[in-house]
Amino acid sequence: MRDVSIVGIGQIPVRKSYEQSLRWLGATAVHQAMKDASVDRVDALFAGNMLSDELQSQKHVAALIADEAGLRGIEALQVRAATATGAAALRMAYFAVASGEADLAVAVGVEKMSVGGATPALAKALDAEQEVVAGSTLISKNAELMQMYFDQYGVPENGLANFSVNAHQNALTNPNALFRKKISAKDVMNSRTIVPPIRLMDCSPICDGAAAVVLAPRNEARAYTSRPVHILASSVATDRFRVQDRVNPLYLEAARQSVHKAFRKANVNQDDVSFFELHDAFSIMACLLLEAVGFAEPGRGWRLAAEKRIGLKGEIPIATMGGLKARGHPIGATAVYQTCEIVQQLTGQAGKNQVKNPQIALLQSVGGAATTILTHIFGT
Ligand code: COA
Repeated sequence: MRDVSIVGIGQIPVRKSYEQSLRWLGATAVHQAMKDASVDRVDALFAGNMLSDELQSQKHVAALIADEAGLRGIEALQVRAATATGAAALRMAYFAVASGEADLAVAVGVEKMSVGGATPALAKALDAEQEVVAGSTLISKNAELMQMYFDQYGVPENGLANFSVNAHQNALTNPNALFRKKISAKDVMNSRTIVPPIRLMDCSPICDGAAAVVLAPRNEARAYTSRPVHILASSVATDRFRVQDRVNPLYLEAARQSVHKAFRKANVNQDDVSFFELHDAFSIMACLLLEAVGFAEPGRGWRLAAEKRIGLKGEIPIATMGGLKARGHPIGATAVYQTCEIVQQLTGQAGKNQVKNPQIALLQSVGGAATTILTHIFGT
């Protein structure tokens, strides 16, 4: 297997809705990433999209984007892992280059959630026969986890509020972010309840967006860019499908296994991580991921937020460009946006959001109710 580097990135600003088509969004991000890498051709394209067959009546998205982007004849495949879909596209592009099948591969994520019924479509990441029929959604499953966390560890009601405050603070200076609005912990607590105890300001939004990255073999990366970012590890693990079948639902076993595999491959540990782009689709998920990776003991992750240790200058910066909460979470595109942001950080191009002298970045993406967890580690 060859080492793999990122040599180009492309992001269109996340918006509440785009009039333009799914294919246009995807192809635009691909063109931006290819321009950034100074290439006019790639060998393969892997597209992450979760919802278009339901919301746009469109399957076969990878070939559609390849055609729109003018990349006739190339390999183009769609990849899915529920709400971790963007990370799955990245992993497939990584394998294509690592294996030697492709010398240049693009991973593109695209989602248009603003039209149609996003909530029931998202719920299909759960068990259709046993959870969805009973009315469960991703919001209700995260609400169960949050209530369980509060009860088990005696966490105050406002204990998680600073996760959203931090994300909104960081999004203020990210031009690609959906929300550029500062909020306080009080605003979080005063926002309307969606499914108790989850409030509006605990949730990532429904939105549209697309992002892309170009990958090349590490030993050729400098032919495309003076500042390549290397993918040091890519891994995935799964848990019992349903939350209620897990011995301890608050301990995200798939996240733990996935990150440990990745740490081993990259030969690093959590002390080496300069910042963590995590899956803060709901504030409770950010908290549980910090614990699963080892940044806090079980039941103590909320304190990292409450004590403001997750900011850009904190001991473990998270959601450095606004995270899923405030940059936005256009599902299939999300982990690709996060990868672009990691490249910006590691190459010193994150502007006002720059973390000081970062060396190693960690990315985790969650499929469903923490059933599938992909981990990627990056360095320079
Ligand atoms: N955070 C902050 N503000 C939000 C928001 C969010 N997550 N979602 C919507 N808003 C704001 C809108 O911008 C709008 O503000 P405005 O009136 O100033 O324009 C207002 O709230 C109403 O927006 P609307 O779209 O009507 O809200 P909604 O009730 O339909 O949706 C949620 C709110 C929380 C239900 C929706 O964002 C949601 O389902 N989020 C979770 C998505 C999800 O499950 N993703 C997958 C996770 S893995």
